[in-house]
Amino acid sequence: MRRHLIAIASVVAVVQGLAGRASVPLAQKPTLFSRGSYFAQRAREDAARAVRRALFGDQLSQLQVGGPRAIPDGGRVVVTGSTSGVGLDVAREVAALGYDVVVCGRDEKKLERAVALVGRVARRGVESARFDLESLTETRAAAAAIGRADGLVLCAGCWPTTLRYTEDELEAGLQANHLGHFLLATRLLDAGGVARVVSVASTAHAATRQDRLELDDARWTRRAFDPLEAYAQTKLANVLFARELPRRYAVEAVSAHPGAVDSELFRDFDVALPPDPFGLLPPTVDASIGTLSTTAQSFLKGVVGSAPVSVFKKPRDAARDVVVGLVAPGLAGAYLSDGEPTETSPGAADDAAAAELWDWSRSTIDEALALIDEERARGDWDF
Ligand SMILES: NC(=O)c1ccc[n+]([C@@H]2O[C@H](COP(=O)([O-])OP(=O)(O)OC[C@H]3O[C@@H](n4cnc5c(N)ncnc54)[C@H](OP(=O)(O)O)[C@@H]3O)[C@@H](O)[C@H]2O)c1
Repeated sequence: MRRHLIAIASVVAVVQGLAGRASVPLAQKPTLFSRGSYFAQRAREDAARAVRRALFGDQLSQLQVGGPRAIPDGGRVVVTGSTSGVGLDVAREVAALGYDVVVCGRDEKKLERAVALVGRVARRGVESARFDLESLTETRAAAAAIGRADGLVLCAGCWPTTLRYTEDELEAGLQANHLGHFLLATRLLDAGGVARVVSVASTAHAATRQDRLELDDARWTRRAFDPLEAYAQTKLANVLFARELPRRYAVEAVSAHPGAVDSELFRDFDVALPPDPFGLLPPTVDASIGTLSTTAQSFLKGVVGSAPVSVFKKPRDAARDVVVGLVAPGLAGAYLSDGEPTETSPGAADDAAAAELWDWSRSTIDEALALIDEERARGDWDF
């Protein structure tokens, strides 16, 4: 339940924050893009889709049985982040469709459990790959061990609330959500055979302050760390990555917002009360929230607990909407929400920004790996 509250607070904060993040100088505000109306429009569409889903079933159930698929029958699909949340259910859905699945995760115990759960519904093989996307060397080795794939679902994700650097000296969220996936996907694409890639993004891609990436300060050395901005930047990167992929490789790519899902994504927000994670409130109000927390929390628990319908999707429903992006023909290049093509923010449809992100990612990763390899060759590493 606490996760629910935290998630609600986060989503509310996102939506409120997006309507107008007051600290942005007016001159820097995008003139043509209003985050408020973008999110209002998406909310209206979400409501309409929820009605359609209730009446006609979800998009996956509407695919023609035995009809054409973007991934060949019996193909091999790699799913990152498949030890929990949306990714675990993506792996289960993909396995039940009759594909071989490579379940990916960083934690050995969670991986074992996930493989067992996926195995229960699998019609073909289930393999596992253990690696941490926050490590370029682990990710590179995993790509080599996996070898080849017909489909990729890049679903792993995190939402750090504090600034943390990885062993590669990169901001943790950006590396886990984007750079690690870039390395994994490009290595598997180099091996050949990949027909479609799904980059699991978020509607939060439209939440960046200026509707663009801040690649010149990707390590947050010149700005105070802002968790919402940082997460939104990584999700914008996910959409732009999928946009640029078919220009660099002969592959179809889709990005997908799974919806607001009851998952572990908000685990770092694990505090007594849905706080003010993005610093939107003045400090005095923040302090009062602390005092009110117990009462407010039990009140909210009562309200949320008695609500007949959760505002959050179940991971399984979200996963089915992501799997549509993997298998449905005719979706190449789309950004999906609830499994249906949806408009992105203008910044996410910017070809120049997509190309710039690609080149920056390529050189950032290559430089970091070259340094590691050099240090290893000099014997500076123990392994
Ligand atoms: N939940 C939402 O409302 C929502 C909304 C929009 C978009 N999304 C996106 O949906 C995707 C799935 O998120 P979720 O909601 O299912 O969250 P989740 O339950 O927290 O699952 C995230 C998965 O990613 C894995 N992961 C995180 N960091 C990793 C790393 N460094 N290396 C390898 N694996 C890592 C996690 O593994 P561990 O368990 O080992 O940490 C877990 O399996 C994410 O890309 C997220 O941004 C979610």
